[in-house]
Amino acid sequence: MNILFAVSECAPFVKTGGLADVAGALPKALTAQGVSTRVLLPLYPALAPLRDRATDLGEVEGVGGTARLLALEAEGIDLLMLDAPALYDRPGGPYIDAGGADWADNHLRFAFLSRAAARIARDGAGGWAPDVVHAHDWQTALTPAYLKLEGAGGPPCVVTVHNIAFQGVFPSTLIDALALPREGFTVEGYEYWGQIGFLKAGLAYADRITTVSPTYARELTAAEFGMGLQGLIATRRADLEGVLNGVDVDVWNPETDPLLAAPYSAKSLKGKAVNRAALAERMGIDATEDAPLFGLVSRLTRQKGVDLLLAVLPRLLARGATLAVLGAGDADLEAGLRAAATAYPRRVGVEVGYSESLAHLMQAGCDSILVPSRFEPCGLTQLYALRYGSPPLVARTGGLADTVIDANEAACVAGCATGFQFSPIAAGLLADAIDRVCDAYADRKLWAAIARRAMRHPVGWDASAAHYAALYADLAGGAPGDLSGEAAA
Ligand code: ADP
Ligand code: GLC
Repeated sequence: MNILFAVSECAPFVKTGGLADVAGALPKALTAQGVSTRVLLPLYPALAPLRDRATDLGEVEGVGGTARLLALEAEGIDLLMLDAPALYDRPGGPYIDAGGADWADNHLRFAFLSRAAARIARDGAGGWAPDVVHAHDWQTALTPAYLKLEGAGGPPCVVTVHNIAFQGVFPSTLIDALALPREGFTVEGYEYWGQIGFLKAGLAYADRITTVSPTYARELTAAEFGMGLQGLIATRRADLEGVLNGVDVDVWNPETDPLLAAPYSAKSLKGKAVNRAALAERMGIDATEDAPLFGLVSRLTRQKGVDLLLAVLPRLLARGATLAVLGAGDADLEAGLRAAATAYPRRVGVEVGYSESLAHLMQAGCDSILVPSRFEPCGLTQLYALRYGSPPLVARTGGLADTVIDANEAACVAGCATGFQFSPIAAGLLADAIDRVCDAYADRKLWAAIARRAMRHPVGWDASAAHYAALYADLAGGAPGDLSGEAAA
């Protein structure tokens, strides 16, 4: 069975967050399920070095013009790169310029990607044809809208919501510029409160909708989490599934990770102390042995509860604990963290910026990774924390609720705890949970048991890739292992 992934970022080539991790890891896991995936990405500057090795498959129509479609295999992923220099070949990030502002033409850049995906879905590329097209988040959510509204057939479409906070809403004056058929500008179509809603369109036109954890799938139908789209999602409940994200267990493996100061495993945690020392030195922290070194690796936004962490910092430090932070994001949160590092020298270490290598060292060197998110569709950093034996402290929401087993009395007696949860999501409750982590950490035997169990908790993609394979097969009307490409016929 053939699947076209339409996505705006993919690790290790271009990454701003968890979406890239998923787009980089899930296709590989699907291969093991007999599903062949091609990942369609804009040809951003980060991908330019691959151009020379790529095969030119010809022109594909986007919006207001065409792109060259280039194909190649890199890092175990079959890539389809959309070469449209006027839209994608510019310095800066996939969504923002070097000054941090959204690209003014993001509507066009991602409508172009979506329409190209719809064209490839319908017409194939270089003799290859997908049985299902799988779009991710608002950036590619117009794919099923173009497929359905342009009425020329094409395979069924799955849309995955990775984060409903980002919806891609643009003025209705752009309808023609985006080549959107006018008849879709209705409440049943892509119209959203008088504007064009990219994610709204995806939710309206997708054959199936998935999101990245079972709990978030339930939460999305509630006003508190649905961010205005809860009503539409509730009407599509029968077509909605929550499929938990996994992690790439080859890239994130403390036994082989080249970015660590020393390897370690659940059998021998000795190397973890070497990483702790290396991290403390790098971050300028004096981390005593008798209290935990907490870590945060995160976009610095309100979603991620960074303000809650700042509010409870005095309690954390009063316990003798220390804190290392790697992140970038909102200016006020960056400033708050920098001020904390100045106020508490050698107790709080902050690196503002983005560093893949430091993210790995943080997971290995911290004792506990903090994820105090107000909402979290899935979350990957707590999964990396489990795998690296750094029992995470998480808010009980979304995918965090589905992946971490709280070390309450019953779980400790039953021997199944892998971390710590708090709820409701408020500073006072986070502070209490930090106390619980400090108490558990002081009991060396208990702590080692939790850390080892966390490391053994399955966080790979196997089960969820099988889930997606079954979903695709159901949609395409064939068996997941059928590689003939005729399943949709
Ligand atoms: P989200 O996608 O909402 O940001 P996830 O937990 O799903 O949250 O994924 C975040 C990903 O981005 C993880 O791979 C994490 O390690 C990475 N990450 C976040 N901030 C940074 C940073 N400053 N430097 C390096 N990696 C980061
Ligand atoms: C989004 C979500 C995060 C999720 C990631 C990958 O960025 O915020 O919770 O893990 O997508 O699905």
